[in-house]
Amino acid sequence: MLEHSTTQAQEASSDRAFDGLSPEHLWVFGYGSIIWRPNFDYLEKRVGYISGWTRKFYQGSPDHRGVPEAPGRVATLLPQPEQECWGVAFRLAPHEARDVLAQLDHREQGGYDRLLLPFHTHAGPTPFRVLVYIASESNPHYLGPAPVSAMANQIAMSHGASGPNSEYLLRLAESLRHLRLHDAHVFELEAHLRSLLSHFRVA
Ligand code: SIN
Repeated sequence: MLEHSTTQAQEASSDRAFDGLSPEHLWVFGYGSIIWRPNFDYLEKRVGYISGWTRKFYQGSPDHRGVPEAPGRVATLLPQPEQECWGVAFRLAPHEARDVLAQLDHREQGGYDRLLLPFHTHAGPTPFRVLVYIASESNPHYLGPAPVSAMANQIAMSHGASGPNSEYLLRLAESLRHLRLHDAHVFELEAHLRSLLSHFRVA
């Protein structure tokens, strides 16, 4: 979720995590802020999905979209057989892959782990593996489900170093619509949030 650059020290410390990944064929899958603000250079992008996962605003953000005592809510993926999560995969330039990965490790440090998962498109015959940042239910910032009105309210009220939490949700919903992708959970939250924001405006 950041949106800021990283330091040399952070880049160095993430070198270990580059092991086992080929910079020649490195694709990063975005399903949250990486869709609407990748903030890194890439050679190409493809719209597609990963199977067996569903996108939910169940991850707390104590840094980018909230503060530790009042975290925001951002997207993560939960395992869900028979479901698919649509998003955008970005292919990194080999000579930049290490730096981009270091930047993303820093950006996604609030509870996210990396997974390599098969990515499918309607166009391509065979899936290929993409790197995905996922915050599991066991991470310390995980918030889990809540009534949709409560989640929308939390998003309306939260603000972090990267800006208002509402921006995160609204821009994600707009990006999905622009790509002609549907996500009932995101759009329901968005509708609640827009209603709350319109009340704030007239109040
Ligand atoms: C992603 O966008 O793919 C990861 C979650 C986030 O940073 O919003």
